[in-house]
Amino acid sequence: MRLVNPLIALLFSTIASAQQVFIMSPLAGTSVSPGKNITVTIERPASLSTSEEVAVVIAIHSCARNLCAPQADALGEILYNGLFNPHTNFKQPSEDFNIRIPQSMSNGSALLTVTHFALIGAGPVPWMELKNVSVVVD
Ligand SMILES: *[C@@H]1O[C@H](CO)[C@@H](O)[C@H](O)[C@H]1NC(C)=O
Ligand SMILES: *[C@@H]1O[C@H](CO)[C@@H](O)[C@H](O)[C@H]1NC(C)=O
Ligand SMILES: *[C@@H]1O[C@H](CO)[C@@H](O)[C@H](O)[C@H]1NC(C)=O
Repeated sequence: MRLVNPLIALLFSTIASAQQVFIMSPLAGTSVSPGKNITVTIERPASLSTSEEVAVVIAIHSCARNLCAPQADALGEILYNGLFNPHTNFKQPSEDFNIRIPQSMSNGSALLTVTHFALIGAGPVPWMELKNVSVVVD
């Protein structure tokens, strides 16, 4: 196995963490209703390192007895799968997605997840991260 230069590895993890997105809305614990739309706001703070946005996947998964399956194992229902184009307004670059909570969602807690894909650096290097927020369906 080829050893990765630790300095390059550190540099990459620093650059990668600068490309992180944050779920600004909904907030944890927000009540959502089956069949109703909500706004999911995904922020990608401005950074100086080179990166190119590819896509995000927004999904929701019911948590049985309040125990959520790890999002890396099962995303649940895909609510959005497409381009991510954060726009700068007065705040950090972000994009709002208007998505419908599936009519079939059962009451109780659910995990809303964002899977984010980007290309980082001059290589570029493909990169993916998983984010989540728990909401309450009622
Ligand atoms: C949600 O995200 C947190 C923070 O990254 C992580 O620790 C947790 O495992 C995730 N939850 C699930 C169910 O994947
Ligand atoms: C609700 O979201 C869906 C996408 O999930 C969209 O097609 C529909 O137009 C939205 N409805 C309203 C009233 O915004
Ligand atoms: C889910 O919760 C809402 C609001 O509390 C209630 O009106 C509805 O009957 C519940 N649905 C089920 C299937 O329990």
